[in-house]
Amino acid sequence: MTNYNCARIIFATLALFCSSALLAQEKPTKLELMPMPAKIEFQSGKFSLTDSFKIAITGNPNQRLYSGATRALRRLAGRTGLFFPQDFLRPDVVVDSPALTINCERPGQVKFGEDESYTLTIAPAQILLAAKTDLGALRGLETFLQLLAVDEQGYYFPSVKIEDAPRFAWRGLMIDASRHFMPVDVVKRNLDAMAAVKLNVLHWHLSDDQGFRVESKAWPKLHELGSDGFYYTQAQIREVIAYAAERGIRVMPEFDVPGHATSWVAAYPELGSAPGPYQIERKWGIFYPVLNPTKEFTYQFLDKFFGEMAVLFSDPYFHIGGDEIEHADYHEAKHWNESAEIQAFKKKHNLADNAAVQAHFNQRMLKILTKHGKIMVGWDEILHKSMPTNIIIQSWRGRESMVQAAQQGYQSLLANGYYIDLIQPTDFHYLNDPLPADLPLTGEQKKKILGGETTMWAEYVSPETVDSRIWPRTAAIAERFWSPQNVNDVDDMYRRLEVISFQLEEHGLTHEKNYAMMLRRLTRNQDITPLKNFVDVIEPVKIYNRGRLRPHTSYSPLTRVVDAARPDAAAARKFRRNVDDYLEKRQQNHTSAEQINFSLGLWRNNHAALLPVIKASPVLAEIESPSKDLSEISGIGLEALTFLEQNQTAAASWKDEKLEALSRAKEPRGQTELMVVSAIEKLVVAASEKR
Ligand code: ACM
Repeated sequence: MTNYNCARIIFATLALFCSSALLAQEKPTKLELMPMPAKIEFQSGKFSLTDSFKIAITGNPNQRLYSGATRALRRLAGRTGLFFPQDFLRPDVVVDSPALTINCERPGQVKFGEDESYTLTIAPAQILLAAKTDLGALRGLETFLQLLAVDEQGYYFPSVKIEDAPRFAWRGLMIDASRHFMPVDVVKRNLDAMAAVKLNVLHWHLSDDQGFRVESKAWPKLHELGSDGFYYTQAQIREVIAYAAERGIRVMPEFDVPGHATSWVAAYPELGSAPGPYQIERKWGIFYPVLNPTKEFTYQFLDKFFGEMAVLFSDPYFHIGGDEIEHADYHEAKHWNESAEIQAFKKKHNLADNAAVQAHFNQRMLKILTKHGKIMVGWDEILHKSMPTNIIIQSWRGRESMVQAAQQGYQSLLANGYYIDLIQPTDFHYLNDPLPADLPLTGEQKKKILGGETTMWAEYVSPETVDSRIWPRTAAIAERFWSPQNVNDVDDMYRRLEVISFQLEEHGLTHEKNYAMMLRRLTRNQDITPLKNFVDVIEPVKIYNRGRLRPHTSYSPLTRVVDAARPDAAAARKFRRNVDDYLEKRQQNHTSAEQINFSLGLWRNNHAALLPVIKASPVLAEIESPSKDLSEISGIGLEALTFLEQNQTAAASWKDEKLEALSRAKEPRGQTELMVVSAIEKLVVAASEKR
């Protein structure tokens, strides 16, 4: 050994010693877990992952845990490239010297309220995952995989002791497969992602005006005439339910009645409240067709249909929709109000208004579903003084209905505030707590709030874009449903979300990878860089504005710039944050100034590069004007930054002129909006303030 090599080894050993000593003392606060566990204790040291890593399962496990642990092992191998010795975990193979031991006390049941708790203890020589049920163990395996870290020595798991259990028992994602059909593969990859963030209910919206999506043997015209050929066979439904159950996820179907029923009456016009004929709806909105609550045939039909579906869908909870029917809140109650038969029925049964007619119908639904062993769930319109309290209210129009429901003794679920189709930022959803401390509810009433669901309504998504609307924002919502209430640091959520988002691609999700593909298509395979620079800082318009600005149908293309653009555009969000940081402590904030300067320079010059791309691809014509605006306002931002950096004050006339240009840039185009205007405005205002 040369002296030089010797010195190197001594130095390396010292460095290693110092860094592990540091690790032992320092709390590694930068864990990238989502949802954050209920309790984490940091311990000294780490478990180094090597290619001898093996898993053993003890206790009283079931096949689901062996399969789940095998999938986790393959994902670990996939991430690290390590060649682990184990192939499939099996009950009949004894594993010696396991690195990870999973102990499970009993097989869990995929049912509401099942125990999902676990403890995960990672020590330098041994990892133990202990759970009451295999479902808890599956949740713990996801935490384990999220803990994988890297340092100079390679892959490792930090030494921690985690004790974890969910805050809410019902943590759902609703996927609307009616407005745009979502093939089985789309549903499966989303189930994998749900499991990765510990969601446990797939609420499957299977019928609406635009499509009836399940094969019915009892009433075959439903799928034959109500779906344009896009429906799930019963075998596929069973396949999805089994796939979900393997991941500890329940599947609750929704068949929306009596409104949102055009596809039903397109198949069976005799169910309708008006004579028909009807055709599957191609537009978006709220429509007149509504089932006829006065005819015994309607109830016989639904009895037979729900009976069939009650067997197909094994979960006890069954959603009947119930939203947006013939109430003045939505539109004139045309079909019920114009039907002499229904008016006579109202009189005869002493039903004061259409809400009472719906409640009458719902009482029959409840009888039918109870007979078939189901618990009835519906949107908040089903809340009515004549309904018994053994139904579940899903609040979507406002959390008031959830509070009211709980006060009146109903169980409820919160969807209001989790409408991810409305393209609101992640932190808006993240900070929407189902049970804030100031809710006017007693302890008993609070227990009635079972949890929440995020809703992916599908008017403006296709199988190609749906993942980009669900993820990654749903991971942050999943944390809201799982983690303790005081886990609510927005900056830290965004830091972790970036990592979790990229990990979710492991399941074949397309929320990241389809972005570049869609931009390539939009440019007709030219260099996408200038288009990406632009789309990185725009977002689709929010709430229900997309349809207002440009009416769409179910067959409109979902391949335009607005579809490639993502909710909560990260580049724009980071820019806004940099500007806020900079303005808060300007003199000491050179890093932010440099970053702001870099971004504004990039955007100012981008239009010149993007223009030839736009000219060569007609679909991009709609972004020519906002792209030009981005350039112009970035130039304004740079001027403002120069004033600020040079400690000069801009004239009031300069400010007024620039703010006007900025206000023009706010106008949506192509149903998108520039997300950096407000931050540049702040720079302009600050530049013209006396200092
Ligand atoms: C709903 O969004 N109409 C439940």
